[in-house]
Amino acid sequence: MADKLIIFDTTLRDGEQSPGASMTRDEKLRIARQLERLKVDVIEAGFAASSNGDFEAVKAVADAIKDSTVCSLARANDRDISRAAEALKGANRARIHTFIATSPVHMEMKLRMTPDQVFEQAKLAVRYARNLVEDVEFSPEDGYRSDVDFLCRVIEAVIDEGATTINVPDTVGYAVPELYGNFIRTLRERIPNSDKAIWSVHCHNDLGMAVANSLAGVKIGGARQVECTINGLGERAGNCALEEVVMAVKTRRDYFGLDVGVDTRHIVAASRMVSQITGFPVQPNKAVVGANAFAHASGIHQDGVLKARDTYEIMRAEDVGWSANKIVLGKLSGRNAFKQRLQELGVALESEAEINAAFARFKELADRKSEIFDEDILALVSEERHAQ
Ligand code: KIV
Ligand code: ZN
Repeated sequence: MADKLIIFDTTLRDGEQSPGASMTRDEKLRIARQLERLKVDVIEAGFAASSNGDFEAVKAVADAIKDSTVCSLARANDRDISRAAEALKGANRARIHTFIATSPVHMEMKLRMTPDQVFEQAKLAVRYARNLVEDVEFSPEDGYRSDVDFLCRVIEAVIDEGATTINVPDTVGYAVPELYGNFIRTLRERIPNSDKAIWSVHCHNDLGMAVANSLAGVKIGGARQVECTINGLGERAGNCALEEVVMAVKTRRDYFGLDVGVDTRHIVAASRMVSQITGFPVQPNKAVVGANAFAHASGIHQDGVLKARDTYEIMRAEDVGWSANKIVLGKLSGRNAFKQRLQELGVALESEAEINAAFARFKELADRKSEIFDEDILALVSEERHAQ
């Protein structure tokens, strides 16, 4: 049996950190229900200690969601961890995700702590969290820019304290795929108790490589959890996009050899819901969920797809929740695509000569208008008939 890749969605926590993307409790609940429909394994519902509003949102999600694990973020201190545990009380499966920064610049300039202090605090936090819930994730924030020896020391200690998942964030999106994959592998090889925890990747998209880095963390590093968000929402340039990472692992199962539990047919609905709630539009050429992701405009492509979809499609639009792929009629379209659309519209043109005449009018129109809609075709066919 293939290994399973755990999908940890953080749209409601890291996604919400995107400037202008804050969500109300009820909006978070709607998205959480859609994530449950998608069958994501873990939903990070928020950061319970950050505000009363977020506490209520995490609590509402924990009370409502039955199938996915519900998680709250918490800094590595008793107050945050207690708030997270309290908000998660109603969950069927609860996870506390505690973090502290481990990179030199974060420890010195942000936390104003020595590495030894950070080491102690990380251990105490995980120990405390493990007294409250069984499922504890630990993240060394800015892990990728941390000293590898220090990171090994911290991670080994928190696994000893009972951390069940170790997440290695590329907090500032500085990694490149091969190096990030090797980094995860090195940590796993060097830490003696590394196989007692599940390894997770969490990549930001500052250089546009969040998905590639996450996949390298899985393939090269052996991580078995990916942290991601719908539409890649998140701080600055965003997080790893759930729809892309899931479809990459599913479409290239021959390469990754992993199972993913996500019911991909709900992806497009999730994307639209998040876009509508946050007011962040999805770019048309966005992989998987963009309006053009399954649209064919060139005549050669349209002809190929009409003959066999595999010519220009590596996955099916229907598998991610689109009703169908889209043949966009315009000046690049060929006669075959035009004829097919006439059939779909129930227009029976008698002879090849009639089709040729209608096609010529269509091409004339397409030179003036960038996209030809069904109404345009019906109008030009009716004009053609009246002209005869
Ligand atoms: O990017 C990051 O480092 C985070 C952590 C809190 C996991 O979001
Ligand atoms: Zn993050």
